[in-house]
Formats: sequence, C-alpha cells, structure tokens
Amino acid sequence: MSTPMRASYFEEFGELDQIKTGTLERPEAGEGEVLVRVRAAGVNPVDAAVARGMLQQAIPAKFPAVPGWDLAGEVKERGHAARRFDEGDEVYAYARRPTVQHGTFAEYVALPECYLARRPQTITMTEAGGIPLVGLTAYQALFLAGDLSEGDTLLILGASGGVGTLAIQLAKTAGATVIGVAGKHNQAYMKELGADETIDYAAGNVGEAIRAAVREDIDFIFHCSRGDSLDQSIDTLKSGGQLVSITNSQPGVRDDIRFEYVFVEPNARQLKHLQELVDENSIKIPVSKTFGLEDTGKAIREIESLHTRGKTVITP
Ligand SMILES: NC(=O)c1ccc[n+]([C@@H]2O[C@H](COP(=O)([O-])OP(=O)(O)OC[C@H]3O[C@@H](n4cnc5c(N)ncnc54)[C@H](OP(=O)(O)O)[C@@H]3O)[C@@H](O)[C@H]2O)c1
Repeated sequence: MSTPMRASYFEEFGELDQIKTGTLERPEAGEGEVLVRVRAAGVNPVDAAVARGMLQQAIPAKFPAVPGWDLAGEVKERGHAARRFDEGDEVYAYARRPTVQHGTFAEYVALPECYLARRPQTITMTEAGGIPLVGLTAYQALFLAGDLSEGDTLLILGASGGVGTLAIQLAKTAGATVIGVAGKHNQAYMKELGADETIDYAAGNVGEAIRAAVREDIDFIFHCSRGDSLDQSIDTLKSGGQLVSITNSQPGVRDDIRFEYVFVEPNARQLKHLQELVDENSIKIPVSKTFGLEDTGKAIREIESLHTRGKTVITP
C-alpha cells in the first residue's frame, strides 16, 4: 500500500513555472537505504539547470522528477542491512543520484546510507540543509583539485554566494590570505566571513583593483562566478599558480598555470569533516532566505539570478 507525501516536481524539462507542488508516492527504503524526513534542503543554481534539461545528457530524469540535491533531516526508517544510523538520527547529505527522480524538495527521500553524515549540532536544521553541496564544492576545489596552503593568497571570484561563503571560511582555516570579489552590497558580508580584502566587480577592472590591494602575485584563483572577472584578473596569477573553476571547464587562459575544473561529488567522509569544522565554530552558514515547499519554483528562479547572498533553503 503506498503512502502519500508532499513534494515539488516537474513532468517535463522546460521553464521553471512548470514546477508544481502536490502529492506523490512516498519512496521506500530499499536494501542499504534509509528513509529521511527532509527538514531543510538547500537551493542551488544547478537546480535550475536540471529543471531546464541542461544536464539531461549526463544525468537523465524520470518523470515526475523531484529536484533538489541538498538535505538535512531525520532518519525515519532503515532498509534491510542499513545499520549505520538509527531512527531519529539527525543527518545531512549531498544527494545527487545518477538519475533525477527522487530529489530532496519533498517531505521524504530514500537514500543509500553511504550518502549520509551526522549533521552539525551547533547550528539549526535549516542551516545544516544549506551546507552539503556548497561545502563539498568549496572543499573539493580548494583542497583536492587544488592544493591551497598556509600563506597562499587566494582570489575568490563570486565570494558572497553559497560556494564563496564556504570558500572564504575554509581558506581562512587553512591560513590563506583571501581576496573576495562580489557586488557592492556584499563587501561588508565578505569581510565578516574573514576576507582580508574585498573588491566590487562593478566598480572597475578587477585586475587593477587586485594590483592596488596586494603587492605580490596571486597563488590561487577560485572561479565561482560568471561575467568577465576571470579575464580581468588572470594576469595577476603567478606563473605556476593554480586556477580552479566550477563554472567554466575550458576557460582558455594562460598555459603557464595549473588548471582544474571541478564538478562536485557526493562524499560523506568530507561531510563529516565539514560537520567538525562547523561544530568547532570555524564555519558558519548564513541563510538569507527560506521558502516553503509550495514556493520551490520561486526559490529556484531567485537562485538562478546568481545574485543571492549566502544560502537559500527550502523547509519541506
Ligand atoms: N561545478 C560544480 O560542481 C558547481 C557546484 C556549485 C556551484 N556551481 C556553479 O558555481 C556558481 C556559483 O555557485 P553559488 O551557489 O555560489 O552561486 P550564488 O550563490 O548565486 O553566488 C554567485 C556569486 O557570484 C557573484 N557574481 C555575480 N556576478 C558576478 C560577476 N560579474 N563577477 C564576479 N562575481 C559575480 C555574486 O555576487 P553578487 O550577488 O554580489 O553579484 C555571488 O557572490 C554557479 O554558476 C553554480 O552553478 C558549480
């Protein structure tokens, strides 16, 4: 006998106003899986790309498709042989599956338990739901694709959004000097997160602003924005320096630097590390806006603007 749940979903790829909220069948925990009651689900620009069908070659969908890859919530049921968590445990996850079908913008999601880690306890469930995708992206970009080290000067292009918010703080824990680039209204925000210098990309040439702010060449550029900030600043990167992008897999820039493109991977072990950093007060996650499930389409439209601050979270 099927059990109903509320969920947001789309029945074909296309415009975001096709995303509706209604009743779908609650998934069941299969072998090695747990059923999680979703309490918070971070919204990310990729959710718009998924609903528009822009990723369908790499990650196909089965309709009706529930979007959403971030979650924090409680374990409700355990499937056969799923024994890492108990019912009631509070967990979080980056739940990108091979197919878009059972996402996290729903009351319940069933997931292999290997996706899950215990959520940080010193922050709210809503805040925890905003961490996984952006936290893993920043971590994998700075420390796995790149090799950010103590004393490095790091330039973050797009430092006030979800990924940038985590990247500033992770870089400070590693002992780097951070230059954050974002709009005028986010300069104080980036400083509060720990940025040593901040630059407004609309106030003039970003490269010239970097030259005015720091004397030495940059060791590492983390590229998490659109626009022409990278073109304007690439000459400030030292020869042999590192460029890691999450927005452009082929930036076509200088050949005397090390370039990596990152597409974030689920990783529960790294989520545990992030949980420890949050609980020891090294990282916070400012949630700028929350939406109910019925406003999922609106939330995704807002995040698609690429001008929201910190995280936007849906609370199903
Ligand atoms: N490859 C991956 O695995 C991966 C993972 C996560 C995200 N992403 C992509 O990475 C990007 C950032 O993600 P996010 O979640 O952090 O997005 P977000 O929260 O929307 O943040 C966007 C950031 O870019 C800044 N920005 C906007 N226009 C800019 C410009 N012309 N020059 C410099 N900065 C500019 C924004 O600042 P203002 O608001 O002040 O304008 C903000 O700081 C998105 O394109 C997303 O799709 C990729």
